[in-house]
Amino acid sequence: MAPVSKIQGAYTPMSAVDSPATQTVTYPPLDTLKEIAPDVWIVDGPAIRFGIPCFRIAFPTRMTIIRTAGRQLFIHSPTRLTPALKVALAQVGTPSWLIGPNRMHTRWLQDWSSAYPDALAYVAPSDGRGMSDPPITHRLPLNGITAYGWEPHIATLPIAGSYFTEIVFFHRVSRTLILADLIENFESDRLDSPMARILTQLGGVRHPDGQMPRDMRLSFARHRSELRLAVETMIRWDPERVIISHGRWYCRDGAAELRRAFRWLIGRQ
Ligand SMILES: [Fe+2]
Repeated sequence: MAPVSKIQGAYTPMSAVDSPATQTVTYPPLDTLKEIAPDVWIVDGPAIRFGIPCFRIAFPTRMTIIRTAGRQLFIHSPTRLTPALKVALAQVGTPSWLIGPNRMHTRWLQDWSSAYPDALAYVAPSDGRGMSDPPITHRLPLNGITAYGWEPHIATLPIAGSYFTEIVFFHRVSRTLILADLIENFESDRLDSPMARILTQLGGVRHPDGQMPRDMRLSFARHRSELRLAVETMIRWDPERVIISHGRWYCRDGAAELRRAFRWLIGRQ
């Protein structure tokens, strides 16, 4: 699930898994550009396993790509880079910014940085509790303070908890909100074990009521008002769609989905 470190021990390294047993959890076709709005694509990636050793859940992964001025591509939460995907990308633009929106989402960042040496890689701040800086070429801070090349096309909103920070993005023209782990939404028939069904239900991350994972909420126990302000900002942006990295994403009524997913924080509106 998300930053389970303080609940379930140390962060567990993610590893790609391609076994047939985990293919049921993904959203094929994989490693393929899927245009969901003008200048916005998603790419569904392979499954990863995440969690403590005995209870690792297979997660589907998803990358979001936005094209800005000059055919510059903003690559959010990069997934596996295949030769065919490289060819497809070349048709739509040039990867310019590689985004690790939180420290959990840097698994394939170096592969992309190596493939596109002119691209700048931005990584969210560390939680300061054991996650060292990932060794990524051209790594720059992603803290919401710096002026970024993707502005003003894409708004940047940092959301910091006690041991977890995620940077949220909003593509203004298409009204597309991009989250990584702040909402997860696992579909029952894409979970590959009874334990995964139990954990996702307990974690509050099961479709159709995907929310912020309950363990992640602990990170915001002392930052509740800041989180609430951030959620209100996201709602005020009035997104049409909300893309998330794990599970079924929201293709319409994005603001309403935010009100639903964060009702534990903002009350019913
Ligand atoms: Fe994640």
